[in-house]
Amino acid sequence: MIGVFDSGFGGLTILRDLQKVLPQYDYLYLGDNARAPYGSRSFETIYRYTLQAVRELFSRGCPLVILACNTASARALRSIQQQVLPFEFPDRRVLGIIRPTAEEIGHVSKTGHIGIFATAGTVSSGSYPIEINHFYPELKVTQHACPMWVPLVEYGERESDGARYFVKKEVEAVLREDPEIDTILLACTHYPLLEKAIRESTPPGVNLVFQGSIVADKTVDYLKRHPEIEKRLAKNGKTSFLTTDTAEFFEKGAFFFGMQDISAESLTF
Ligand code: DGL
Repeated sequence: MIGVFDSGFGGLTILRDLQKVLPQYDYLYLGDNARAPYGSRSFETIYRYTLQAVRELFSRGCPLVILACNTASARALRSIQQQVLPFEFPDRRVLGIIRPTAEEIGHVSKTGHIGIFATAGTVSSGSYPIEINHFYPELKVTQHACPMWVPLVEYGERESDGARYFVKKEVEAVLREDPEIDTILLACTHYPLLEKAIRESTPPGVNLVFQGSIVADKTVDYLKRHPEIEKRLAKNGKTSFLTTDTAEFFEKGAFFFGMQDISAESLTF
């Protein structure tokens, strides 16, 4: 199976696009719902939680795990790749979603000014400006943390007046900081669920970039370049779901992320 990990429900927005583009594979999704959100947690905690999840997905037969969470990709990916895999799991791979997104974002902006909406953890890691400027040194990147957005999504408040208020506040703040921004990247997997409220507050000339299809296309490339991983993946088109909260909580919440009639298994670390 391809393991797909997120702190909660947000990674389902990435899973949906993976299933669209690569429907033949089997997926095992793990949402750490009981401990979400990760966004404002310390580096050490995010690393520890993410590593636990990766070990769980490995133990259930995933040769490849995608961290479908920007915060986990920003805070834990490099340490797992450098300090854990070579010693304990030399034949397994863990991929994040920041680099693939950074590689593509430069093609979208005309003004060369990009806004990034992300969690506080992703913003303070500096991963996006570093990765984007590595590929496109000429781009001006303005990051902005939106600490209220994940709780609004996780608790089903996506289209409430409260959601509109907090979305407008952050959109106005980033455009005040750099009025030349013509491209905004939603660099948190939960944020596509706020699309309606974000579009309402965003001026018409500003593009919104969603990560799901970028990550899915990059995974296609990755599997072509890594037949040694690809040939170990099951191809029955099945998806299973694990959550650290109750199965019922996950099944209900996943419905709002477009996953209908699923059944989840609850696990505790
Ligand atoms: N969905 C995650 C991301 O992409 C983080 C949400 C959270 O747990 O704070 O950053």
